[in-house]
Amino acid sequence: MSLKKTILITGCSSGFGMLTAARLAAKGHQVYATMRDVSKSKPLLTEVKKRGGDNNLKIIPLDVTKPETILAAVQHISAQEKKIDVLINNAGFGIGGFFEDLSDDDYRAQFDVNFFGVLAVTRAVLPLMRGQKTGKVINVTSLASFSGTPAFSAYASSKWALEGFSECLYMELKPLGIDVAVVEPGSYRTKIFEDNARYAKYFHDPQSPYYRISRHLRKLLDDHVRKNKRDPEEVAKVLERLVEARNMPFRNIIGFRSYLRYKFVRNVPFKMYAWLVNKVLLPRKD
Ligand SMILES: NC(=O)c1ccc[n+]([C@@H]2O[C@H](COP(=O)([O-])OP(=O)(O)OC[C@H]3O[C@@H](n4cnc5c(N)ncnc54)[C@H](OP(=O)(O)O)[C@@H]3O)[C@@H](O)[C@H]2O)c1
Repeated sequence: MSLKKTILITGCSSGFGMLTAARLAAKGHQVYATMRDVSKSKPLLTEVKKRGGDNNLKIIPLDVTKPETILAAVQHISAQEKKIDVLINNAGFGIGGFFEDLSDDDYRAQFDVNFFGVLAVTRAVLPLMRGQKTGKVINVTSLASFSGTPAFSAYASSKWALEGFSECLYMELKPLGIDVAVVEPGSYRTKIFEDNARYAKYFHDPQSPYYRISRHLRKLLDDHVRKNKRDPEEVAKVLERLVEARNMPFRNIIGFRSYLRYKFVRNVPFKMYAWLVNKVLLPRKD
């Protein structure tokens, strides 16, 4: 691969996608920053201007749930560049709520973006990468990909599925010269917890048996997000490092605390982990 890479990133209207696109463009890579609604491109354009990289950035529409937009985006890049070196599957969102408050449609919407969306974009890009005999696919998963918490089953299961998919894909594509990695961020204050946050169908229903506990968890989460000082740029830096690495590590956990959680979850019996999580998160019985 040449030093200047052609990179397709999904979900660049805010958060990690926006920061990563801006960083990579400033480093001189040719970045195709995609978003489902290009009228939301102002924050990215401002960020790119600030860092200097305007000439290396192109914004094109892509909704990971709309096959025609995926095809058009990949065809456009292929016609312009004749290659895609790196695909960063970043687009995603989370639906909060207990299993019985979540509808099947909630689960489907969650999987449509976080799981099937990744499959669709990857499927569209792989023929080009196979032809090149080189390429990188980087999937943004989450700490929730290997550690569950109450009220996040829709999100965790979609990311867990993505993690399993990524492991298998790594093995399938390695012999073809294509590398796969996952990036597993902990929590960062991006729009995922604010404008883009979504809740289960019955989350706000006072008749729900989980109403009281959901409100308690929502308050804990809001407090956590408000106090969260972690800089989302940390995730963009890791993505940049992976784009430029000769050999990508497969699993990329960011920060010492997240690494400790990973080790803890892997090494203590599940029931001990679950007891601790419930002790910390659930309200005390009156
Ligand atoms: N922030 C965290 O704490 C955290 C932790 C672990 C993992 N993650 C993961 O990191 C990734 C980026 O999240 P973020 O924190 O940067 O949140 P964010 O600021 O909400 O950004 C999410 C991006 O995904 C886009 N998106 C949503 N649905 C889409 C669709 N159907 N097609 C194309 N794009 C779509 C959003 O576009 P719109 O603006 O149009 O909605 C937005 O650009 C997600 O996969 C998320 O699950 C985040």
